[in-house]
This record gives sequence, C-alpha cells and structure tokens, in this order.
Amino acid sequence: MHCYILEITLMKQVQFILILLSVFHVLFGPIQVISIDPFNDDVSGLIMFKAGLEDPKGKLSTWNEEDYSPCDWVGVKCDPATHRVSSLVLDGFSLSGHIDRGLLRLPFLQILSLARNNFTGTIATDLLSIGDLQVVDLSENNLSGPIPDGTFQQCWSLRVVSFANNNLTGKIPDSLSSCYKLAVVNFSSNHLHGELPSGMWFLTELQSVDVSNNFLEGEIPEGIKNLINLRELRLGRNHFTGRIPENMGNYCFLLKLVDFSGNFLSGRLPESMQKLTSCTFLSLQGNSFTGGIPHWIGGMKSLDILDLSANRFSGWIPNSVGNLDLLSRLNLSRNQITGNLPESMVNCIKLLTLDVSHNHLAGHLPSWLFRMGLQSISLSGNTYSKSSYHSFTSIPVSFHGLQVLDLSSNAFSGKLPSGIGGLGSLKVLNLSTNNISGSIPISIGELKSLYILDLSDNKLNGSIPSEIEGAISLSEMRLQKNFLGGRIPAQIEKCSELTFLNLSHNKLIGSIPSAVANLTYLQYVDLSWNELSGSLPKELTNLSQLFSFNVSYNHLQGELPVGGFFNTISPSSVSGNSLLCGSVVNHSCPSVHPKPIVLNPNSSYSNSGSSLQNHHHKMILSISVLIAIGAAIFIVIGVAVVTVLNIHVRSSMSPSAAPFVFSGGEDYSGSPPNDANYGKLVMFSGDAEFAEGAHNLLNKDSEIGRGGFGVVYCTVLRDGHCVAIKKLTVSTLTKSQEDFEREVKMLGKIKHQNLVALEGYYWTPSLQLLIYEYLSRGSLQKLLHDDDSCKNVLPWRQRFKIILGMAKGLAYLHQMEVIHYNLKSTNVFIDCSDEAKIGDFGLLRLLPMLDHCVLSSKIQSALGYMAPEFACRTVKITEKCDIYSFGILILEVVTGKRPVEYMEDDVVVLCDKVRSALDDGKVEQCVDEKLKGNFAAEEAIPVIKLGLVCASQVPSNRPDMSEVINILELIQCPSEGLEELH
Ligand SMILES: *[C@@H]1O[C@H](CO)[C@@H](O)[C@H](O)[C@H]1NC(C)=O
Ligand SMILES: *[C@@H]1O[C@H](CO)[C@@H](O)[C@H](O)[C@H]1NC(C)=O
Ligand SMILES: *[C@@H]1O[C@H](CO)[C@@H](O)[C@H](O)[C@H]1NC(C)=O
Repeated sequence: MHCYILEITLMKQVQFILILLSVFHVLFGPIQVISIDPFNDDVSGLIMFKAGLEDPKGKLSTWNEEDYSPCDWVGVKCDPATHRVSSLVLDGFSLSGHIDRGLLRLPFLQILSLARNNFTGTIATDLLSIGDLQVVDLSENNLSGPIPDGTFQQCWSLRVVSFANNNLTGKIPDSLSSCYKLAVVNFSSNHLHGELPSGMWFLTELQSVDVSNNFLEGEIPEGIKNLINLRELRLGRNHFTGRIPENMGNYCFLLKLVDFSGNFLSGRLPESMQKLTSCTFLSLQGNSFTGGIPHWIGGMKSLDILDLSANRFSGWIPNSVGNLDLLSRLNLSRNQITGNLPESMVNCIKLLTLDVSHNHLAGHLPSWLFRMGLQSISLSGNTYSKSSYHSFTSIPVSFHGLQVLDLSSNAFSGKLPSGIGGLGSLKVLNLSTNNISGSIPISIGELKSLYILDLSDNKLNGSIPSEIEGAISLSEMRLQKNFLGGRIPAQIEKCSELTFLNLSHNKLIGSIPSAVANLTYLQYVDLSWNELSGSLPKELTNLSQLFSFNVSYNHLQGELPVGGFFNTISPSSVSGNSLLCGSVVNHSCPSVHPKPIVLNPNSSYSNSGSSLQNHHHKMILSISVLIAIGAAIFIVIGVAVVTVLNIHVRSSMSPSAAPFVFSGGEDYSGSPPNDANYGKLVMFSGDAEFAEGAHNLLNKDSEIGRGGFGVVYCTVLRDGHCVAIKKLTVSTLTKSQEDFEREVKMLGKIKHQNLVALEGYYWTPSLQLLIYEYLSRGSLQKLLHDDDSCKNVLPWRQRFKIILGMAKGLAYLHQMEVIHYNLKSTNVFIDCSDEAKIGDFGLLRLLPMLDHCVLSSKIQSALGYMAPEFACRTVKITEKCDIYSFGILILEVVTGKRPVEYMEDDVVVLCDKVRSALDDGKVEQCVDEKLKGNFAAEEAIPVIKLGLVCASQVPSNRPDMSEVINILELIQCPSEGLEELH
C-alpha cells in the first residue's frame, strides 16, 4: 500500500513535468543537449519496468537506478540528439511477469520489442500510446485476454505491430483502422475470432498481413484492391469463407506471398491472379476450390512453391505448368486430377519436389520424371500401372539426387529393378500396395541413406536378403503382406537404427534371430502371421524402447522371455502359438526348455537348425497312447519288483560262506589282516569295514561281472549295505599311490542320480579296489538281451526313461569334464526305480598317459560302440566319442538289438541297418518287436533319429549332451506321462 501511494505521487509529478515539457517544447522548439537532464525520467521508468519482472538470467543486471543515463544499458538505445530512450529491444531475454506501466515514462520511445520472452497478463489499453511508437513487437510470449478496443487509438506513428504467438482472444479491435501508417501487422497464432476489421482494407500502406492460425471468419472483401502495396498476405488456417476477390490480381500485383491454406474458401480461381507475376509462394491447400487447374497458372512466372493440394480441382494438369521454370515445389495431391503428367514439365528445371499423390492419374509412369533431378517424387494413390512401353523395371536407377520415392497404392506390377541400389541418396522408398512380384534385390543394401523402406502389401517372394545389413540408416522397415519366405537374416542386426519392423503376414520360417535383441532402438515389432518357430530369444528383454511386439500366429514355442517389456506384453501379441508357455499365455512351462535342433540324421547337425519344430506336433502323445503307456508301466513295475526281490535274495546269500580265493591268477601272497602293509580301505562317507576282511572278498562266487578295467565282485559291508567291488586288472599301468588316491577322491565327488556312485577304494601296491554302490538289478545289457522270457520285456515308457537317464548322467559327466570312453550297455545299470546309472567312468584318469592305440585296443574294446575317430590317429578324441556310443545305446534300447549281431554268415551293424530303414521309410519296423507295437511312434521315431544324429560319423555333427537332453524332453512332451510312474 505504501509503495502504491508513492507510485501515484510519482506519477503526478511526471504528468506535471510532461505538461511543462510540452509547453516548453511548443514555445522554444527542441530542447538542446544537456548532459545531466533533471527532467530525464527514463531511468526511473525503466527501473520501475525492471522491478515488475523476473529476470532469471540477470540480463538486466546492468540497469542501475543510480545511473544518470540509461543509454548504455543493455537493450536500451537513445536518440543521439536528445539522449532520451528511443528503443527498447529485449528479445529473448527470458523475462517474465507483466509488461509494467513504467514504460509509459518513456515519452520518446519509438521501438518496443519484447519478443520471445515469457510475459504474461493482458495488453494494457494505453501501451501503444507511449511516445511515438513505430514498432511494437510482443510476439512469442504468454500474453492472454482480448486486445482492448482502445489499444490502437493513438497509433498515428505505428508502422509495425506483432502480437504473434500469444494466447490472445477476442476480436481484432476496429481501432486498428486508425493506424494509417501501418505496414506490417502480425496477429498470427493466437485464438482470435470474428471478422477482420473492415477499416483494415483501407490501410493502403499495408505491405504484410499475417493473421494465420486463428479462428477468424468472414469473406475476403473486394476492398482488398486498396492494398496496392501488399506483398505478403497470410490468412491460412482460419475459418474464412467465400471466394477469392475477382479483382485481387488487378491491384495487388506486388504480392509475393499468398497463403490461403486451411480455410473454407471455394469457387474457381479468379483469372486476375495470373497478373501476380511477382508471386513466388501460392498456397491454396486445404480449401474447397473447384474447376480445373487454370491454364493461366503458367503466367505466374515467379512461382517457386505452388500448393493446390487437398481441394476439388479436376481435369488435366495444363501444359502451361511447364512455363514455371522457377518452380521448386509442386503439390497437386488430393484433388480429382485426371490424365497424366504433361511432358512439358521437363522444362520445370528447378523442380525438386513433386507430389501428385491421391488423384486419378493413370497410364504409364513417365520416364522423363526420373531425368529431372527431382529429390522427392510422390505418385502414391493413383492408378499408374505397368504399360507396354514403360514397365516398372524401367526406372533408371543411375540417378542420384532422389531422396523420396513414393509410388505406393498404384497398380504397378513387374519386378523391382535389380539396380535399385543405384539410387544412392534415397531416404524414403514406399512401393507399398501394388502388385510388385519377384524378390527384393540384394542391391537394396547399397542404399546407405535409406531411412524408410515400405514394400508392404505386394506379391514379393524369395527371402529377405542378408545384404539388408548394408542399409545402415534404416529406421522403418515394412515388408508385411507379401509372400516372403526363408529366415529373418541375422544380419538385420547391422541396421542398428531400426525402430519399426513389420514383417507380418509373410511366410517367414526359422527362429527369430537373437541378433534382433541388439537393435536397441526398436519400438514396434510385428512378426505375426508367419511360420516362425523356435523359442523367443531371452535377450529380447534388453530392448528398453519396445512398446509393441507382436508375434501372434506363428509356431513359436518354449518360454516367453521374462523381464522388461515382456512382463506387460498383451496376450494378443503372442496368441496363436500353442506351444508358447509362460504366465501371459496362461500355460506353465516345463522345467527345462527345449532347444531347437535339426533331427535329420542324413544332414549335418547344426546348432541353429530348427526343423524339429516342423515335426513337433507329431511328438505330442495322444491321450490314448499315454493311457496305454501308463498301463504298461504299471505291469512292468510289478514284474520289476519281483525280479529285484529275486536278485536281492540270491546276492545276499552268496558272500556269506565265501572262502578266500583270488580270481585272475594274480600272484598275491596273502598276509594277515593286521599287517600294516596290508592296505587301507577308505570309504568316502564315514567309516565302514568289509564284513570279511578284504582277502575274503574276491572269490569266484561273488563275481558279478567283468569290464575293460577288471573284475567286479559284490559284497556286504559290516554296516550291512551291499557294494560292488572292482578289482583293477590293469594294475601294471596304475599310477603312484598319491596320484591314484587323488584321482579316486576326485571321482568320488562326482555324484549324480544317473551315475553309479564311487563309495570308496582300497589300495596296496599290488591290489587296487574301487568300491561302488551296488545295483542289484544288473546292467542294461542284461535287461535287454539276457532275459529271454517275454514277461520281462522292458516297456516303452521305461526304455524312454532309461535313455533320458543315461543322457542326464552323461551330460553331468561332460559337465565335470570327464570323458567316459567306454560307454556300453554293460556299463549302464538300472536301479529299482528304473533309473539308469552309468558306471565305470573316469577310470582312464587312474592310468598313466596312454595313446589312442592303447586306448582303442585295451579300453574302448566294445565293438559297435566305438566312435570311428578312434580308428583315425589324426583326429583328436573329445567327449563326442561318448555321444557316438550314446547314440548306439539309444538304438540298442529302442530296437532291443545288440550294436553288432552275428548271424549265420552275416554281420549286422545296428546303426547301418536303422539308417537304411529310415531311408526306406520303414523305421517304425526297427522298434523292438518284443514290445508288440506297444510304443508311441511319436516318440520312438524322433528318438531313433536322435540316436542316428548322435552316431554321426563326423564328431562335430553330433550334438552336445545338454542339447540331447533338451531334445529328449521336447520329444517326451507332454511330460505328464512321467508322473503316472510314481
Ligand atoms: C515461462 O513461464 C512458465 C511459468 O511461469 C515456465 O514454466 C516456463 O518454463 C517459462 N518459459 C520460459 C521460456 O522461460
Ligand atoms: C507408404 O504408403 C502407404 C500407402 O500410401 C501408406 O499407408 C504408408 O503409411 C506409407 N508408408 C510409410 C512408411 O509412410
Ligand atoms: C550383440 O552385439 C554384441 C556387441 O557387438 C555382440 O557381442 C553380441 O554377440 C551381439 N548379440 C547377438 C545376439 O548377436
């Protein structure tokens, strides 16, 4: 309140001084220069103005109220004669607040420019009454409210006024008509409405009128003929109606720029317009003009930009367009133009952009079009087609300036020109919605600047060329709705700018390359309605920008990635893939997720293969088969239990009465049991003792088998549990005691439910024993071949479980970096719950280095299981030799045949026999006939194929064990069949 009163008193003083001053002025003429002018109130006026502002950037910090003169202040200019402020230009100073009335104290102000700030509030009625303002620019602020009626009452000196880009409302005040010196008026981009003040059409000094982008209405009056100085007339984006005044061209012939776009103007174009020979810019876009494009248009010789788009022009394009030799941009799109482009247009030598899209143009694509050096051609949405003279392929592709080519939505047929890569500057290529056939030329990869590629909705076939990797600028790729086949090339990874990828509605196969996950800017991906298979790469969760990822209606399977975008993916984006699992699709996943692999034993094994998916539906067991298997399992368990009981009774009887007898004729001289050298028994899990003492163990009666490394006996420990004891026969090759113990302890740590556990050892210099868990049911070999009675036939479900168990055991061994070297059915044991357990592993570690010769002759002696590379000294033996043996084991389990069978005068090699049966399409007949057809062919046949792949001649063609497990689980799917076992 105190300040306010002070302000009022100050104002009164100022008024008094001003009156005094004007009297003085009248009486004595201009005041002479005085260095310190006691009447100069400019400082206090500007300080008052500053005080009402926010000046976050401190732009006005030089403004100091102690100064006598403001003439050196930033933004301030003084008349050199009077030393009074004549110009205040504070454009872009980031000032905010109201435009303060302090400015009223600047009586000599001529230029006031506060553009590009953040001034708010309304425009004060008397703002333009200051001094003799000639220029007022308040554009690009946040001024609001109506422009007060009185604003222009004292505007006799005003030449330029701009209130553009504010939030002003209401009408343009009639008082504007009194600014008879007005040359430039700009009220564009506000919210003004109503009609333009009629007096405005008498302001003959007007050179530029811009009221575009408001809600102004009414007609453009005939009075426009008064504006003979008019150069620019921008009325665009308003609600003006009616016609263009008939005589406009006769008077306003200085017009250089006419923008009537985006109104409701109608009728034909007045012929007088042809006199606008200085006009460089004419836009009538987005009105309702009718009639033909006038032939006189060629008379507007200065035209640089002509935009008649989105009207109702009809008829042909006049030949006279060719006279517009300064034309750089021609837009006739969205009219009802017919015919073809006139050839006279080749004379428009400056033309860069031509848009005639969405008309009714037809005929052949003029070939001269491509010789004009255009940058952008859009013929989209016409009915151009291939003609007998100029097929689509005739587009000359050596031409360099072209950046945008849009021929979409026409009737083009034929193929894409193979040399399309010659259009080296192309940024946008849209050939969508035509009848283009053939394949995508590989030269597409030469389009290094290509940003948008749209070939969608055609008849393209072939595959997406891997050369696409060359299109490194590609951001949008739309190839949907074609007949594209093959795989999505992993090279797409090189198109690292890709944000939009639509390959939907094609015939793409194979899996989605994980390389897609490296396209970090991807936002929109649509791969729906293809034949894609395999699982979704987990890495896709890394795509942080993704907002749409549609893979519906493919043959995808496995677990949906978890995390990132995939936590919120909509179910419809993944629907139509019956084998996908995860919470989104409401289908829980099995614990291990199958990895795709080629199961064709006749072709090389490949990691990335996925043809398995094509067979996958065959592998799912039908319910009836499952029931049959379940019943069979039930019977077999009963049989097995009886067998096990029998064996158990036999084995627990035999050792009790055994005398001390050595087998194998070793020169062991018995010592008393308490001899220190006698040797020590080490059990890995706690203490235990042989019930009888070691020397009583190894007798013929308790012998249960012979392997490559020695004889196996069975005995009962003092704590009552049975163990199998292997006496190593290759003792001359064994290592020192420490080495032996170290290796044995290492083997003791390898524990897995599908491996026979090593429980302890016994060492003397001449006798080494390994103590294993005892499996009363015996070896796989025994179960498969020894028992001829039909009652003990291993049912299919059990065989499958054995194969899977062996696979898991072997996989674990390989994971522990142990190569078995000696896998065969006599080394695989089956426990009471049908679990397969691999034995005899890792024994090679107990021996000093052997060469492959010794290996093959001494150890890998099992005929039929030996991988071919053992015969070849130059090939390194890897764990793949076990996979070969495993493959043979699979075949053995499925067929019930030994790897090599000796007939009367013939030797049958199992794996060759099965392979040729597969070739003959009779592989089903290879399945063990003892099963009497009681097996799931959907499982048995892929399992046989897997066996053959594992038994590939070339080691690298054999899969890894982890992959084998994945495949088996996939074959076994659905896994519910297993649960019925328990
Ligand atoms: C203008 O002011 C508004 C609020 O007063 C603020 O949010 C905005 O950032 C300012 N703009 C500029 C360009 O300073
Ligand atoms: C290509 O043209 C079609 C049809 O004119 C249009 O729908 C599509 O949006 C265009 N493609 C791009 C990427 O702009
Ligand atoms: C993604 O790019 C990285 C770095 O270039 C590379 O190491 C990785 O192998 C790529 N991933 C795929 C799935 O191609």
